[in-house]
Amino acid sequence: VDHVAEVRIIQDILGLVDAETTDMAGAEHEYRNPVDHYTDPDRYALEVERIIERTPLVVGHVGEFTTPGAYKTVQIGNVPVLVVGAGDGTIRAFVNVCRHRGTKLVTEPSGARRAFPCPYHAWTYGMDGALTHIPEEFGFPEVTANVSEYGLAELFCEAHQGFVYVRADGKAPSAPLGEWLSEVGRDLADLGLGDYLVRAGSAVDHPVNWKLPLDIFLENYHTKYTHRRTIYPVFLPNVAKFDRFGPHARCVLPRRTITGLREQDESTWDLVAESTLLYTIWPNTMVAVLPEHAAVWHVYPTGVDSCRLEFYALVSPRIAAPDEEEELNKSLAAVAKVKKEDAARFLGIQEGLKSGANSHLTFGRFEKALAWYHQSIDAALGDEAIPFTSAAR
Ligand code: FES
Ligand SMILES: [Fe+2]
Repeated sequence: VDHVAEVRIIQDILGLVDAETTDMAGAEHEYRNPVDHYTDPDRYALEVERIIERTPLVVGHVGEFTTPGAYKTVQIGNVPVLVVGAGDGTIRAFVNVCRHRGTKLVTEPSGARRAFPCPYHAWTYGMDGALTHIPEEFGFPEVTANVSEYGLAELFCEAHQGFVYVRADGKAPSAPLGEWLSEVGRDLADLGLGDYLVRAGSAVDHPVNWKLPLDIFLENYHTKYTHRRTIYPVFLPNVAKFDRFGPHARCVLPRRTITGLREQDESTWDLVAESTLLYTIWPNTMVAVLPEHAAVWHVYPTGVDSCRLEFYALVSPRIAAPDEEEELNKSLAAVAKVKKEDAARFLGIQEGLKSGANSHLTFGRFEKALAWYHQSIDAALGDEAIPFTSAAR
């Protein structure tokens, strides 16, 4: 975040603290999000087709693909994807499906190899996706004569400011990633996460709609109640600054210490030290920037009421001294606790969805980033965006 922007954001937050309020929707009413947007299988199929498979999704950090043949597999909607680093900075993505009889090629979540043999009949592909070996090739005269046509189907894959973006539908995005990411992209560039180290990775399957783990991040109204004994003592509850950049968002969640900046010269103000910067990279990635590290979540839908939540931490390579390492470990442990508290909430919401208790979920005026997110979903599905509506309606 450039210094002019960070001073402006901090001034806005100090103004909100003085006025004993927070950043709220201009509309006077709540936003009502229909429950079936989380439960309807037809709508889910549309989300997969029009959002998940059509958008360049962040599938990882460049640090995961530095050694030759370092690979990772992810499921993007209906498309199993294999992402492979060549070791020279090149990162490619392929449909993770053998060209012989279509079995899934690589079944492990990640690893490193220079050749990818199919588990079925051992057709083998190189790091560049080329078909390099057909056992008993006398059975396949035409394939052998046209072997270059039998490489793995390649997908759009591009590294940008430290993250790797893949689009599963075989098409390239119409705008450059930097343009599409707008100010979020510029912030990521300023933060310099590209040379960070990947640590503490995990992937957990949750029996919840994929949008619930994202919803949980987009407000800090719950800090005082859900995180009472963890982050509430450190963070100002329900004071935040929200900005929207196309479908992406930045939520600045200030620490209590931010009010102490009033006594300090503006030139020394440091937003990262005084807040958590939470970025939503549309549609399924969250990046929380903390002083000691960044926490990254990718949410992959696996069904209308199931998703896979991948998490990892990005650690600054400048952390060198043992006391810094201790601070980092404390911070990682704190994030792990908060993750558990949030997971209990989204699991609870999923249980509530089908109960019939609610026809819609109600987002308050200071939960406006949730409203933005769901408006973007509506827009991507080709629906009329649902406006902020009167609670009486
Ligand atoms: S399906 Fe892959 S080698 Fe036969
Ligand atoms: Fe939370």
